[in-house]
Amino acid sequence: MNVHANVSFRSSEPVDPVKVDRLLARGWNLPAEFYTDPGIFALEEQVIFRRAWQIVCTERELLNPGDFVTTQLGALPVLVSRDEDGELRAMVNVCRHRGKVVQDEARGNCRAFTCKYHAWSYRLDGSFRGAPSSETLHKDELGLLPLSVGTWKGLVFVAIEPQQDLMDYLGDVPRVMAENGSHFDFSTASGLSFESDLTVDIACNWKAWVENNHECYHCPSVHPTSLNAVFCLGKEEFRTQAFKGGMYLSAPFRPEIAARFGVAFGTPDAQKPDLEQYFIWPNQFVATTAGHADAFFRIDPIGPDACRVVTWTYGKGQKMDEDTRKLIDVAFDEVVQEDIVMSEQTHTGMRSGAYVPGPLIPGREDLLMHFQKVVWEVLGPELRKREAA
Ligand code: FES
Ligand SMILES: [Fe+2]
Repeated sequence: MNVHANVSFRSSEPVDPVKVDRLLARGWNLPAEFYTDPGIFALEEQVIFRRAWQIVCTERELLNPGDFVTTQLGALPVLVSRDEDGELRAMVNVCRHRGKVVQDEARGNCRAFTCKYHAWSYRLDGSFRGAPSSETLHKDELGLLPLSVGTWKGLVFVAIEPQQDLMDYLGDVPRVMAENGSHFDFSTASGLSFESDLTVDIACNWKAWVENNHECYHCPSVHPTSLNAVFCLGKEEFRTQAFKGGMYLSAPFRPEIAARFGVAFGTPDAQKPDLEQYFIWPNQFVATTAGHADAFFRIDPIGPDACRVVTWTYGKGQKMDEDTRKLIDVAFDEVVQEDIVMSEQTHTGMRSGAYVPGPLIPGREDLLMHFQKVVWEVLGPELRKREAA
């Protein structure tokens, strides 16, 4: 009989800041609690997501007075509109009467927002407009709660409790984009055409999915006939950068891609990589494939054990060409499914109480080291405060 008396499984120990400092200094992974603990998840909602500017839609969906888009940022229902004066507005999409979601359609155009429950009504800027039998109400205090809204490159961002304006928040992302010659533009003037949006629920922590998106160490083993057959993802070709506010990665197509898919892809500008992806802290991306399709996506935290990935894809020109369509289909149908299996099974390991943090691989997982350090820079001081209290 073999007895391994030196294996001790953790159950629900509080995070030890000294241990986390030591792990990250060595380039090792964060402890499992960061991916499973409801207390850490609640802290993330408070100090990461409430402060974040998050992409909710494009300006092209809000061109005219009365245009609106609804979404959900974590648990918060959000409504964005163009008001009568042409101002962009963002507000909490929760009725001030009894709390029903006010506008329950995803997008559209209307003259006012009317809650279907008891017919309370709000103007396009969120101010209270009227309600049945409402003579005695103090109408000034009953508007929908306002949120901060801003735009960049045709994208509309919303923040709940921002600590800085949008451009400061984006940090070095615009500068690095300019230096790399990456031309993202989701405005009407860009000529992009909306192709699809896709929502995928995944049974893992939101950080695990962010991390999965930032290394291709796993690509030969997980995506041998999908992603790895399309792009050159080796150490030399898979380029990465980390900077204030974001991260970047790029890769070129494989020369033999035409044979793999029976189509001919090519980058219009041979100097540009075929795949480019910019990450904007803490959970969102803009990406382009060979200058044919641009996309943005957001990873919504649902709970410590679940996240939701929402992706919007745009074709360039009037209609996405068939070749690009095939590429995108492969990306979503095969690559995402392959990644889901890995991430969900990793989450099973994280939840087991038996995961002892292991090392990240220099040169292959550098962006994960950076991301985990940023997570710890935000959460660490809060956890230390709690420890001291
Ligand atoms: S909850 Fe909206 S009108 Fe009553
Ligand atoms: Fe992957």
